[in-house]
Amino acid sequence: MVIEDFIKGIPKAELHLHIEGTFEPELMFKIAKRNNARIKYKSVEEIREAYRFSNLQDFLDIYYEGAGILTEEEDFYELTTAYLEKAVSQNVLHSEIFFDPQTHTGRGIKFSTVIDGIHKALEDAGERFGISTGLIMCFLRDIDESAAMKTLEEALPYRDRIIAVGLDSAETGNPPSKFQDVFTRAREAGFLTVAHGGEEGPAKYVREALELLKVSRIDHGNHCLDDDKLTEELIRRKIPLTVCPLSNLRLKVIDRLEEHPLRRMMERGLLVTINSDDPAYFGGYVNENYSAITKALNLTADDIYKLAMNSFEASFLEEGIKDKMLARVREYKKMSE
Ligand code: ADE
Ligand code: ZN
Repeated sequence: MVIEDFIKGIPKAELHLHIEGTFEPELMFKIAKRNNARIKYKSVEEIREAYRFSNLQDFLDIYYEGAGILTEEEDFYELTTAYLEKAVSQNVLHSEIFFDPQTHTGRGIKFSTVIDGIHKALEDAGERFGISTGLIMCFLRDIDESAAMKTLEEALPYRDRIIAVGLDSAETGNPPSKFQDVFTRAREAGFLTVAHGGEEGPAKYVREALELLKVSRIDHGNHCLDDDKLTEELIRRKIPLTVCPLSNLRLKVIDRLEEHPLRRMMERGLLVTINSDDPAYFGGYVNENYSAITKALNLTADDIYKLAMNSFEASFLEEGIKDKMLARVREYKKMSE
């Protein structure tokens, strides 16, 4: 089997995906028209042309502008359904999806509008396609902790719909220590925790996320390798890194995919996974990320298999279900030999 087909068919989980980052320009125009909202670009092509980013902040400015079109429960439903259909077509069996409530509540949209729309889409897709999902609520780290705390309070009535809390947005200058109290409160309420770290920020932020926020996973983690002791600890504790190759390329965390640390991470024994982050903005969903990094680093079918197995190992799935999904990956590999 050619490696492209092996990648397409292998059962996989996606663990680092911002639902607002799946907002394709075609859907932006459709929803903007329905809501009588203005888009400053004249066409889909013009929007895509604007997606040339110099760094994370550059991207975030455009990403928040796009997300600003989402207004009604139906908008969140349609956005989420479109992603899930794509994920199913790429043999994603399980997806853990980030959402950024503050991006919406900050402009007067109710928390319930956001979560009801997303949740209904997850339920319907589960019934229609059998895809398994989890929701992770991210706090925006460039805003102060009191706003994150207010958001956590708003989320408590929806505790059963959210598996974990996370931390995203502009990393530099916004260390995990800023959010220690809200993460403690979230853990007391029963949420698991994750955080973006070491994307643009230093290894020190990853250590803070582990020690102060007690995270179960690090999102990105590229700069972990700068600190040998930290890397050893991540390996020993089997803390997964949710790596996003095309995102790293588009946000200039790396200059070329060939320089991506993924192979070094795997060789050191880190539990790494492949994910798409914000696929509508970075030129590819999860399979395109697997394909691009495979080509750049000459990965083998065994490497792909390991990454797909890792994606389930690193998930927040209940052990019995996790074992069943891992068995499907093993079966797929056997069948393709
Ligand atoms: N929000 C959406 N995508 C993000 C990323 N790659 N890093 C930080 N915040 C984000
Ligand atoms: Zn991200």
